[in-house]
Amino acid sequence: MIGAGLGGVLLAGTVLFACGSEGAQGPKGDPGSSGTVPGPVGSQGPPGSGVDGGLPSSCLSPCHGFNGIVEQWKTSTHYAAYVSNIGGGEVANWTGPQACGNCHAIDALEQRVGGQVVIAPDAGVTNLLTGELGYRSPVSGKLAEASYAGHAKVAAVTCVTCHSVTDQTDPHRTGLPYTPGSFPLRVPVGSTDQASIEKSPNTSAVTGTPAGTMGGANTCIWCHRSRKDVTNYIGVSNSISAYWGPHEGPQADVFSAAGGYQFESQTYGTSTHQQKLTCVDCHMPEVASNSSAADHSFYAQVRVCTSCHAKATSFDISGGQSQIRATLFELQKALNTAGYLTRGTTTALQPSELADGQFELDLPRSGGSPLTADEAGALYDYLLVARGSALGVHNPKYTKQLLFDSYFAITGLAPTTLVRPL
Ligand code: HEC
Ligand code: HEC
Ligand code: HEC
Ligand code: HEC
Ligand code: HEC
Repeated sequence: MIGAGLGGVLLAGTVLFACGSEGAQGPKGDPGSSGTVPGPVGSQGPPGSGVDGGLPSSCLSPCHGFNGIVEQWKTSTHYAAYVSNIGGGEVANWTGPQACGNCHAIDALEQRVGGQVVIAPDAGVTNLLTGELGYRSPVSGKLAEASYAGHAKVAAVTCVTCHSVTDQTDPHRTGLPYTPGSFPLRVPVGSTDQASIEKSPNTSAVTGTPAGTMGGANTCIWCHRSRKDVTNYIGVSNSISAYWGPHEGPQADVFSAAGGYQFESQTYGTSTHQQKLTCVDCHMPEVASNSSAADHSFYAQVRVCTSCHAKATSFDISGGQSQIRATLFELQKALNTAGYLTRGTTTALQPSELADGQFELDLPRSGGSPLTADEAGALYDYLLVARGSALGVHNPKYTKQLLFDSYFAITGLAPTTLVRPL
């Protein structure tokens, strides 16, 4: 089982997984509590027993069953990252005096929702409490990003990162059975609440853009975003380094049809996916056999697609992903020929790299002369789509428009693999 000892690490003081079984000392951080809270329906599980071995039945659903939320989460990348840095190796990099802990630390959302970030003197982040981290420094006049203010010793996205659980509602503390709704999310997720991404409406503002009403999926938006105010980030002349461009996982920017570099004189639209669905719909569908609780493996699932695309057997619906892949190959080649891409620092992509289709590994290539706004915009949009936007699924129409316009900006030609949708 996930030992109750991990609970000590994960929750800093609260037992997360004890649920009637005995807590052991966590490898790092505070020890789990001693496991004296009695299980509601009788027996205490023996220490270190299997997930369903001896746990009171009220613990099994939806959380601690064989296919419960905890086991689902353990298959996710959110968990894998925790395991890989449990020794603390990454934590030093991610929770230092910089922005990283705002999404990578275990208490990332708790800190931000509490307004706890580090910003320049006299500065304010316009929409801190709806997830934005970017602002303009009144000292330097430049774009800046709020730093992490917590002191976490663990970098992970786990139960308490996303959920706010108090002593009064935590079944591990109260000993009472779990009741639906007792694991509220930390960020505002009401029907009118919107998270904001960094992109400003125009260059005279640093005010961000609301990403749409997404309910529980606002949680995802707080982290899965470019972290760049592309409106102000890209100027008349742009010096490129390997760190330039949108951060890993800028799904919110594509999904919302708001966060790309949009070329002047073009108009941009959005897709049914953005209008009718949220991240949670595709990535956390209900699991009927687990009290219909949301799937916490966080992987997108084809069974969601079939409610609209009746015959879908893969994500490549109507060849949509294949087409975007083909266009990414074309755009990648054009950007590489122009000297903008690398997987090292200053060498262009090699033939094998141009053939492997691992677009997310491409980095901006430093050392060239500064790029114009449209050149930099094309590179930005390529990276935005390449870094995890599911080969267009996150917003088929907006993705096609961005890729078409980017290719045109670099080559003066239309890509052979795509017609620009209106
Ligand atoms: C606004 C939230 C946010 C901030 C701030 C942030 N990241 Fe990330 N980062 C993410 C997300 C989300 C992913 C996962 C993207 C994916 O896999 O699709 C990620 C992925 C990564 C990855 C690659 C995946 C991995 O787990 O190894 C690295 C490396 C990384 N971030 C480093 C950093 C560093 C260094 C900083 C600070 C300079 C930072 N991040 C700041 C949200 C953030
Ligand atoms: C990345 C964020 C995230 C993480 C990590 C996460 N959850 Fe959730 N959880 C959600 C979201 C979003 C929902 C709501 C889904 C919906 O809208 O139906 C949810 C719903 C739930 C619910 C039902 C809601 C309620 O109040 O009863 C439970 C129970 C739950 N999660 C337990 C857990 C447990 C246990 C863990 C750790 C193993 C965990 N979650 C980790 C985001 C997260
Ligand atoms: C606190 C920040 C945070 C929140 C909130 C969050 N994520 Fe993540 N997510 C990450 C990071 C960081 C990674 C990369 C792995 C890691 O370092 O944990 C990641 C990885 C992922 C991955 C795997 C990506 C890959 O390349 O394998 C998926 C899928 C994912 N998240 C979906 C979601 C969904 C859906 C939500 C909302 C329910 C969500 N995430 C909420 C930070 C977050
Ligand atoms: C229409 C359904 C759908 C919606 C809505 C959706 N996704 Fe996805 N997402 C997918 C599919 C499909 C994939 C590709 C999965 C694969 O190839 O295994 C994916 C991939 C991802 C990945 C992994 C990317 C990678 O590098 O492999 C992350 C992270 C992610 N989505 C986050 C989000 C977030 C955050 C939102 C909301 C802003 C969202 N998704 C909305 C269907 C969706
Ligand atoms: C709510 C209904 C709905 C769901 C659920 C849905 N889609 Fe779609 N999808 C649409 C519609 C409608 C279109 C047509 C374009 C538009 O209206 O935006 C579309 C278009 C697409 C396209 C573009 C096809 C092309 O011709 O380029 C892809 C790819 C796609 N969907 C993949 C998915 C995947 C993968 C899933 C599940 C993870 C999914 N969709 C779930 C409604 C849906």
